[in-house]
Amino acid sequence: MNYRHHFHAGNFADVMKHALLLELVRALQRKPGGFLYLDTHAGAGSYDLARAKQGASAERAPEHPDGIGRLWVNAGLPLALHEYVALVRRFDPRNEGADACRVYPGSPWLVQQLARPQDRLALCEREPSANLALTRSFAQERRVKVHAMDGYVALRGMLPPPERRALALIDPPYEAKDEIAQIVGALREALVRFPTGVYAIWYPLTGRVGGATLFDGLRSLPLLPPTLVADLIVDPESARMSGCGLVVLNPPYGFEEAAEPALRYLSRTLAQGRGSSATLRWLAKVRRVVKPVVTGPKRGPASRSPR
Ligand SMILES: C[S@@+](CC[C@H](N)C(=O)[O-])C[C@H]1O[C@@H](n2cnc3c(N)ncnc32)[C@H](O)[C@@H]1O
Repeated sequence: MNYRHHFHAGNFADVMKHALLLELVRALQRKPGGFLYLDTHAGAGSYDLARAKQGASAERAPEHPDGIGRLWVNAGLPLALHEYVALVRRFDPRNEGADACRVYPGSPWLVQQLARPQDRLALCEREPSANLALTRSFAQERRVKVHAMDGYVALRGMLPPPERRALALIDPPYEAKDEIAQIVGALREALVRFPTGVYAIWYPLTGRVGGATLFDGLRSLPLLPPTLVADLIVDPESARMSGCGLVVLNPPYGFEEAAEPALRYLSRTLAQGRGSSATLRWLAKVRRVVKPVVTGPKRGPASRSPR
C-alpha cells in the first residue's frame, strides 16, 4: 500500500466528499435515534497541511490551495459549505482567524464534531502508521472505536448495527485494480443484511477509474435501493484527475436539496479549467429487486415422482 492521504488532504475532492458527507450526517440527525457511522477507509484522522508538499525525494505542488484554500476566505457560501468550512476552522481553534487552513480534519473528525451522544463511530484503517495516528487521536473519545481491519470485512461484519441506522463511507485509495469489484462485492452482502443503511461511495474520475464501471457493478446487484449520484468535474482536460463523485445509496430525506446548491457553487469555485460542471442524478429512483432467473428442469406435476 503506497497511498498517503496527506498529499491530497483538503484538495477539491476532499472538499466535495466532506461537504456532502456532513450533509448526510445532518440529514440523519433530523431523527432523534442514534446511528452508527462506519468509515471503511478512515485515514489518519487529520492532516498537517505543511506536510502536503513534502514528497519522498522532491517537493510536490500542494493540492489544498485549490480545495479548502479556495473556500477558506470566501464570504457568501451556500449553507452546507458555510457549515463545512466552520467545522474545518473549529478543528484547529488557534488558527480559526488565520487567512489559510493549517490542519485539515479528515472524515472521522468532521463526523465526530457533529456526533450526538447517541451516535457512534467505527473507523477502519489498515495501514499501520495511519492507524496509529487515528488510534492516538481518538483515544479519549468514548463513542469512537478504531479498528485495524479491512474496511470491506467491516462492511460485511458490522451491519446491521444494534441502532438499526447507519451511514457507511466507502473511500478507498483505488490503488488496487479490483477496487470496484471489492466495493460491489462487499455491498452485495451488506445490502442483504442491511438494506436500509445509507452507503456513500467516493470515486475519482481518472483515465483508469471512472463512474461507469462502478455504476454497472451497482446495477448488477440483486437489490439496489434508491441511489443518487453526485459528480463534480473541475477540469475536463486534466490528464490526472478531472473530477470525482459520490454515489449515495438510500440518501436520507433532505440530502438532495442541500447537496444541489453546494455542488453548483463548487463547480464554479473549484474550477481548474474550462468546462467545469456538477451534476446530481438518480441511478435508481426506486428500490430495484432483480429476481433470480430459475433455469433447469421445469418443476410441475409432471416431474413429480409418483407416490
Ligand atoms: C482516501 S484515504 C481515506 C480518507 C478519509 N476517508 C478522509 O476522507 O479523510 C484511504 C485510506 O484507506 C486506507 N486503506 C486502504 N485499503 C484499505 C482497506 N482495505 N481497509 C481499510 N483501510 C484501507 C489507506 O491506508 C488510506 O489511509
